[in-house]
Amino acid sequence: MCGIIGYCGPRKASDVLLTGLKRLEYRGYDSSGISVGSAEGLQIYKKEGKIQVLRDTVPESLEGNWGIGHTRWATHGGVSDVNAHPHCSCDGKIAICHNGIIENYMSLKDRLEGEGHRFLADTDSEVIAHLVESFYEGNLEAAVKLSVSLLKGTYGILVMHSDHPDEIIGARNGSPMVLGLGDGEMFIASDVSAMIAHTKQVVYFEDGEVVRLDSGGYEVTDMRNRPVDKTVDSISWELEEMEKGAYSHFMLKEIHEQIESIPRAMGGRIDEDLATAVLGGLNMSEMELLGVKRIVIIAAGTSYYAGRVAAYLLESLARIPSVTELASELRYRNPIVEEGTLYFAMSQSGETLDTLMAVRELQRKGARVLGICNVVGSTIARESDGGVYIHSGPEIAVASTKAFTSQLTAMYLFLLKMARMRHMAWPEGKRFIAGLTGLQPGIKKILENEDGIRKLAKKYHKARDFLFLGRGVNFPVAMEGALKLKEVAYIHAEGYSAAEIKHGPIALINELTPSLLIVPDDHLRDKVLSNMKEIKARKGPVIALCVEGDDEAAQIADDVFFVPKSDELFSPFLMVVPLQLFAYYCALELGRDVDQPRNLAKSVTVE
Ligand code: M6R
Repeated sequence: MCGIIGYCGPRKASDVLLTGLKRLEYRGYDSSGISVGSAEGLQIYKKEGKIQVLRDTVPESLEGNWGIGHTRWATHGGVSDVNAHPHCSCDGKIAICHNGIIENYMSLKDRLEGEGHRFLADTDSEVIAHLVESFYEGNLEAAVKLSVSLLKGTYGILVMHSDHPDEIIGARNGSPMVLGLGDGEMFIASDVSAMIAHTKQVVYFEDGEVVRLDSGGYEVTDMRNRPVDKTVDSISWELEEMEKGAYSHFMLKEIHEQIESIPRAMGGRIDEDLATAVLGGLNMSEMELLGVKRIVIIAAGTSYYAGRVAAYLLESLARIPSVTELASELRYRNPIVEEGTLYFAMSQSGETLDTLMAVRELQRKGARVLGICNVVGSTIARESDGGVYIHSGPEIAVASTKAFTSQLTAMYLFLLKMARMRHMAWPEGKRFIAGLTGLQPGIKKILENEDGIRKLAKKYHKARDFLFLGRGVNFPVAMEGALKLKEVAYIHAEGYSAAEIKHGPIALINELTPSLLIVPDDHLRDKVLSNMKEIKARKGPVIALCVEGDDEAAQIADDVFFVPKSDELFSPFLMVVPLQLFAYYCALELGRDVDQPRNLAKSVTVE
């Protein structure tokens, strides 16, 4: 987590840093700081709270054309001004910003304290400033290289020294870092959002690389001082996509964007004539795809639930044994990689450390891992052996919404391809394509009726506990609905299989614990209705999310929201949107910080 940014160029560095930090704020928002260099040395400002607090603290008159900045998501040490970055060397000449975790900081700190270094903060990151100081003999880059060679853990680090005007050193291991090339100016940051207002020409770094930049250029070397040739990429995102526009929150904007983002994920990837999908990025021949005997999807959070939907359908339609596993668990359980197993790493950001580390562990064991990512050029996208970009556009709200449905879209396309190579006949393929490409009006209708969801949120937002229940392909959707409510409204919610409640959770049912049941028109509908009756019999309030015309469900439930009828295969798309809206409106009723919920960060780059 955390966001870092650096700038060298003709502009006022504080303006560039503060604006960039605002765009990185989604990565962490408990405190922030900047260090700006000028003829007077380094000026450091750091504050607990959101970027606006820092902005209010930094004087307009702050001069200086090079600097570094940081927005923090605390891991080691509480949230306070002093623990905010940048951290400084004893002589105040070196400032560092760090994203990641230094696992061996205690032993390094003991050693440095023994040598007389004085520590002010209670963080792992501060050791970096003192280490660089201890190695510094006039060459900042050399001192940074010696320092990082001693670090264990993950880092994206920016370092500046008051005696090295217009120079920043960046080093990366496990935490993302990208350089932005301007005209007579250079930017460096955790991700492109911080620099997109200034440049679209970027260079991504790999672990073990160190960059030295100034306003005129950059050099990248490895830890053995060998130059590394880098390619320059262009960013396709537009600045406007990162703005809220007329919406009050990014989350609401992104929920609404699903009308366009779902079709965008299909763009150019459907072969209508052959009734199949075209996914060139998989980098796999038809023969290789035919040889796939098992599929394992690894992911975290919302991506994990999208993976669960995909695995369910891959197994039932393509007839390939498929499972989805939490990346954080897979990594440490010494998984068996068998020939014929194809792995997918699903990650909106492409930077989630749990997922990235699982990818590397699998690749070490010889697995082929494909990435399903949103952020182009992200680490998982680059390190995987192929994959599919979901193209949902920048997702800024911490709560993931449009990425979920775009991930589903990408996996539905893969599923179509795999099924058509096996048991699915051409007419069935045509029907599948019609269902997938025909989702837009249904989603539009749900969004037009969002007032119905707002009313439900008004009625239910005071509940302290919630059950979200679904079956089959909508069981993971129920879990996703519960996750959304937890993270943005801070209401405790459990996502369960409706069938499972009799095995325990039904004990929670009373007048104060509402249950939201997903009731698509599928082969399990009658079973879900029975579960609904069981809840009603115990005086539990029930909200039913059912398809238009399902009067029976509407009669049993206390409240109902109708979604347009669709083939049951596609119901997850239509069921999840009301759940996203429900969480959003509950959060709004409760006055929560919808886009930046407490304790969270968008991109989880720590374990
Ligand atoms: O970027 P990723 O898809 O890898 O992120 C995974 C989770 O951290 C993420 O989905 C998280 O659960 C969201 N805050 C959920 O809304």
